[in-house]
Amino acid sequence: MCGIVGYLGEQEAFPLLIKGLKRLEYRGYDSAGIAILDDDGSLEHHRRKGKVDDLLEHMNGHKPSGGLGIGHTRWATHGPPNDVNAHPHLSGDGQLALIHNGIIENYHSLKETLTGRGHTFYSDTDTEVLVHLIEEILKNSEDLDLFEATRIALNEVVGAYAIAVVDVGRPHELVLARKSSPLVIGIGEGEFFIASDATPIIEYTKNVVYLEDEEVARVSLTAGLKIRTIKNHKVTPVITELEMAMESIEKGGYEHFMLKEIHEQPRSIADCLRGRLRLGHGSIRMAGIDDHQEMWSQAQRLIIVACGTSWHAGLIAEYMFEDFARIPVEVEYASEFRYRNPVIGEGDILIAISQSGETADTLAAIRMAKEKGAHVFGICNVVGSSISRESHSGAYTHAGPEIGVASTKAFTAQLAVLALVAIRVGRLRGKLDEQRFNRLLVELSGIPEKVQALMALEPEIEQIAEQFMKAPNALFLGRGYNFPVALEGALKLKEISYIHAEGYPAAEMKHGPIALIDENMPVFFVATQDAHYDKVVSNIQEVKARGGRVVAIVTAGDTEASALADKVIEIHRSDDAFVPLLSTIPFQLLSYHIAVKLGRNVDQPRNLAKSVTVE
Ligand code: F6R
Repeated sequence: MCGIVGYLGEQEAFPLLIKGLKRLEYRGYDSAGIAILDDDGSLEHHRRKGKVDDLLEHMNGHKPSGGLGIGHTRWATHGPPNDVNAHPHLSGDGQLALIHNGIIENYHSLKETLTGRGHTFYSDTDTEVLVHLIEEILKNSEDLDLFEATRIALNEVVGAYAIAVVDVGRPHELVLARKSSPLVIGIGEGEFFIASDATPIIEYTKNVVYLEDEEVARVSLTAGLKIRTIKNHKVTPVITELEMAMESIEKGGYEHFMLKEIHEQPRSIADCLRGRLRLGHGSIRMAGIDDHQEMWSQAQRLIIVACGTSWHAGLIAEYMFEDFARIPVEVEYASEFRYRNPVIGEGDILIAISQSGETADTLAAIRMAKEKGAHVFGICNVVGSSISRESHSGAYTHAGPEIGVASTKAFTAQLAVLALVAIRVGRLRGKLDEQRFNRLLVELSGIPEKVQALMALEPEIEQIAEQFMKAPNALFLGRGYNFPVALEGALKLKEISYIHAEGYPAAEMKHGPIALIDENMPVFFVATQDAHYDKVVSNIQEVKARGGRVVAIVTAGDTEASALADKVIEIHRSDDAFVPLLSTIPFQLLSYHIAVKLGRNVDQPRNLAKSVTVE
């Protein structure tokens, strides 16, 4: 969603804020703005619809000077992207500037009350209400400072927020708060760095404090960091050391983050398996399971919740858990699950899958499951994220920062973690004999090498992209483990190229989608040699009989499906459960090259944001 940055210290805030905003632009990019308290004590405020570069162009080389500032990249919720709705928003007297990520649900009633008290609003945003509310509280009590006024104001607010507030009258401090939207405070030598996530902070300091829900913080050049809850309980800040490397947030010579992240997968999958898959010992070590063995052996049921690509990983995991552990599994969209009245309680394990660890619906689903007595196992990529902290146990995917909005390496890392969990739990529950267990370990440990080999297919896939880039629609089909791969292939294509694409289980084609097939409709099949191979070959025949154009991902050495398809992409053979780790890669490369050829903004597709922290 939106990205927040802030700086307080001896350096010039402006270049730091701009650099930080560029790093955070993947969170939202429909407008950008900054407010800087300049050296003569006045507030410089610049906002613009569009990207950070549009803001810079609008500023026409002007560089405000001053060591206190805040900046924002917006992903619009209330009010269209335009200059007026861009953050920061100012109080009526121009003394306060505020940036916000989240949604103020009761902004209507607050706005009405404040309007009745003489406040005038210029934007359509929910955010503007917050800054007026703080102003109103300050106006009515001269004893209060910004920190106290913000704390009191937040007690009247319903919704989600990460905010940073600057007061012209307090040039040495910055006030921050969070609820359900992330906020990180970087602690430097006599300086503070604020951001929605650690990516803008890492090059300055490794020491950070993650604000918790309903906490308000003040960073001050004279008094340091102070945190209280909005109910006014004192909090002792806990400093955490960041483990992120700078290279991981740079493009490293690639044209786009997405391409870099696709190519990183041999390494990211290997990192995910490292230390957990212990071939020499013939074992899997995962603290989240080792420490709760009885619970996993006796669990009645697994419920997997996630959104988007992470949900697709959950669907594949369902097949794995059924295969390896013989345990009932339900896979739910977090957004549906949280608003139903699901039957869940003690004895159930809820597995929440999320790259960002901040997805609002997934977070709400785990909170509900916890209230109902289920154990929550979180699978997240971002270390220290809300879902990772609120889960009872879990496993990180260790894929490194994923900056491209379309998820690639996080997805395959999720599959690798889920494979480890399913195999480990299968062994624990006595459903996998030693021989099969060991075979699976050997096969899984060889996946990074097979993924590496797939990268050599890129020129071939680029040619296929050239041939199919003009198609207005596309169908993705697969069966068994490869049905969710078809869903993921369709999602990747539509989100970055804006070509309408649908994924289906191949057998479902006859129940409707077959009506779409003609010579203009490309159909992308996963037709690898698994238990469903013959059936998929029949489905390819049905498409060909109706003039459809077929691209098939097949197992190396395949003849039957290959003879029917117009284009063939060969991948290595593997255990059926691990084929998605391979078959998904050609679809990632295909979507990437189609989108590039169509001139799309691959890393920041329209209307999307990396981390959906509002529902
Ligand atoms: C698609 C994509 C999204 C995310 C979804 C969940 O490429 O990235 O569909 O998978 O928004 O996000 P996380 O995994 O952060 O919870």
